[in-house]
Amino acid sequence: MKKSAVKCIGVLTSGGDAPGMNAAIRAVVRASMHMGIKCLGIRRGFNGLINADIIPMDFVQTSGLIGRGGTALYTARSDEFRTPEGRQKAANTCKLFGLEGIVGIGGDGTYRGLLEFSNEQGVAVVGVPGTIDNDIACTEYTIGYDTACNTALEAIDRLKDTMQSHERCSVVEVMGRHAGHLALYVGMACGATSVLIPEKEIDFERDVVEPIRAARLAGRTHFMVIVAEGVGSSYGSSYDIANKIKEYTGLDPRVTVLGHVQRGGSPTARDRMEATYMGYNAVELLAQGKTNRVVAMQKGTYVDYDINEALAMKKGIDERVYTVLRALIGAEENHSF
Ligand code: F6P
Repeated sequence: MKKSAVKCIGVLTSGGDAPGMNAAIRAVVRASMHMGIKCLGIRRGFNGLINADIIPMDFVQTSGLIGRGGTALYTARSDEFRTPEGRQKAANTCKLFGLEGIVGIGGDGTYRGLLEFSNEQGVAVVGVPGTIDNDIACTEYTIGYDTACNTALEAIDRLKDTMQSHERCSVVEVMGRHAGHLALYVGMACGATSVLIPEKEIDFERDVVEPIRAARLAGRTHFMVIVAEGVGSSYGSSYDIANKIKEYTGLDPRVTVLGHVQRGGSPTARDRMEATYMGYNAVELLAQGKTNRVVAMQKGTYVDYDINEALAMKKGIDERVYTVLRALIGAEENHSF
């Protein structure tokens, strides 16, 4: 085996937790051991670097971690790390513990923090995409997305039973502060009557009233409207939408905000696999002497990008999913074969 460029690294999780983060931590620790690198755990995100909240990580400590939800290292969003003073304290911790590299598991905010730290203090950094929102531009997939989709789907299937029994309309809000990937995917998978996402302008008559009307005419007696959290800031809350449905259709909708339930639970097989590969790849990059990289997936293949390049990328929703979804809820009947 080639000699590693770094002898000691740290791993941290930052931002919102996501199922599969633990599997990524395990992969980072065990890949490090395999490559002859000492790996330490940094707790509570970047705050752990500032406060020297560092713990040893070994084979036993990561045993059983692959199937556990949340993050064993805790997570936080650190305001202090955004200041030069905070980053200086973090650099002192790196010196104290001999940390030459850091793997940060999180989203864009985590990458920005890593980049600034590396540019300022010369510590090697690699980012691993972890968020249930799947909204990181450089990668097709983020750790936690599949589990969150399945968790939301399970809850919606349960709701459907009671909605069907009472012949009701349900408005379900799924997470995604800025992005509708989760809502779109879950909406497609549960056969929703309507899906509202922040990436698409909403025409209430066209996007909500018409599909309900069409479904009613076809004999359906219960309706599922999926709303992405991000719609709240641009259009109106799920409760506003439910009131509007009542006003336009006479139905008496019930609102369910799934919230943080979607962030919990044991990761699916997919999340365990992606987390394991991505964690391993991150350590490999540091061992090769690389820095300021983020691991990603493109066209089903694992790749890595410069963090600057990754942060400049843009990601839209999958238009094909949107088109098929609209076609199947009967929103567009204009085919000419
Ligand atoms: O980014 C992940 C996410 O779960 C978003 O979907 C959501 O808007 C946000 O985090 C909630 O954050 P918090 O944990 O601060 O409530």
